Amino acid sequence: MKQQYPVTVAICGLGSRGKDTYAKMAQILPEKMRIAAVAEPDEEKRCAVRDLYGVPEDMCFHTGEEMFARERLADVAFICTQDRQHVGHAVAALRAGYHLLLEKPIAVAMEDVRLIERTAQEMGRSVVVCHVLRYAPFFEVIRAAIERGEVGEVACIQALEHVGYWHQAHSFVRGNWRREDESAFMLLAKCCHDLDYLVWLSGQRCARVSSFGSLRHFRPEHAPEGAAARCTAGCAAKDSCPYDAEKIYLTNEKTGVLAGNTGWPCNILSQNPTEATIREAIEHGPYGRCVYACDNDVVDSQIVNMEMEDGTLCQLMMTAFSAHGGRTIRVMSTRGSIEADMNENIVRIMPFGGEAQVIDVAKLGRDLAGHGGGDGRLVEELLTMHGDTGRPTARMTTLQSSAESHYIAFAAEQSRRNGGAAVEMRSVRE
Ligand SMILES: NC(=O)c1ccc[n+]([C@@H]2O[C@H](COP(=O)([O-])OP(=O)(O)OC[C@H]3O[C@@H](n4cnc5c(N)ncnc54)[C@H](O)[C@@H]3O)[C@@H](O)[C@H]2O)c1
Repeated sequence: MKQQYPVTVAICGLGSRGKDTYAKMAQILPEKMRIAAVAEPDEEKRCAVRDLYGVPEDMCFHTGEEMFARERLADVAFICTQDRQHVGHAVAALRAGYHLLLEKPIAVAMEDVRLIERTAQEMGRSVVVCHVLRYAPFFEVIRAAIERGEVGEVACIQALEHVGYWHQAHSFVRGNWRREDESAFMLLAKCCHDLDYLVWLSGQRCARVSSFGSLRHFRPEHAPEGAAARCTAGCAAKDSCPYDAEKIYLTNEKTGVLAGNTGWPCNILSQNPTEATIREAIEHGPYGRCVYACDNDVVDSQIVNMEMEDGTLCQLMMTAFSAHGGRTIRVMSTRGSIEADMNENIVRIMPFGGEAQVIDVAKLGRDLAGHGGGDGRLVEELLTMHGDTGRPTARMTTLQSSAESHYIAFAAEQSRRNGGAAVEMRSVRE
């Protein structure tokens, strides 16, 4: 195929993902990607992207609905709106003839995942899902060790997703993903990534699944003595509360604006994070609410057990209750095991009776920013597909290979709500 760079893109939703993650790739790879059109109701965000990337005014729309009602304006549409908007924007963009980069989750209902699959097929368009972890060097190293066969055949994989106490409070108690009816159930919203890499590492579809989990802690009955409705409203429990908003957004040495952090999560409270704007947001906005007095309903811990079609056993545990975020993975194989810690960026490959190989992913000389380097590499591969090779790479997160994670999530959630009874994936796929 003749090279057709730059690939032109139309970005729908200029939030944390659309503006702060994917649009930036037009600066990093200007010869490969050009932003041709954008859609965003928030004027400040829309104008910021218009000015930074030179998007013509008549190519700046207030909504994705408006943008996709026009004839096709670019090669690929990046769908970066909130979870429940994905299906509407994805189907409209496909019908207008765009290929897609689609943020996860694909959609929040099984029938909507199927609708997107059918529409993509009918229109002959490709859809790449932002399961960015598959592109992160950390996961590449694990997958390559399995493929080389030096640890034998995979028998079991255990994955632990540590959401982290403040990330849970920020996104899943106070923030955008706190309620299922406004976003998605926790396993789909947060862990479709984990289910996706379990499918990818095992190389198997799931045969059956069971799950337990609950919203154990962030409930009104766990509020400490003297807790106020807002952290800044004279809360008597403030000093000893790790979830205190002033600690998270002002003073924490990694996340607080006073420690110099003007990126995530502070930039979710204000487009211009300063001590004054963050204080204002904590005093009046949703991120200053007591974590025991929010309208949240998604779980804070969940376990999922999977039997894959070849008998491989996979297990995922997700929990809010860890000091930091990150993922740890153990692959137990017939001739060795692999232990990997994404927070430390270390992968240990341990053939039975042989010498352990310890790989420090941080020393491989790869960019690890944004989901361990996954965000940028996803876009790079997408641009190569559309601008050069014309076909997806083997590990690419196509809709076909990404949907399995969602089917497992829907089945696991069904199990969790049904007291943990096993669900046959056959019944879900039919
Ligand atoms: N792949 C990942 O690892 C990853 C990480 C975080 C979030 N996400 C997903 O990415 C998506 C976006 O998340 P985010 O954090 O950027 O959210 P966000 O709320 O920061 O951004 C969404 C943007 O869409 C805009 N919007 C609302 N209605 C619109 C419409 N009709 N047309 C166009 N734009 C509209 C909003 O104003 C907002 O700016 C979510 O589905 C989220 O679950 C994925």
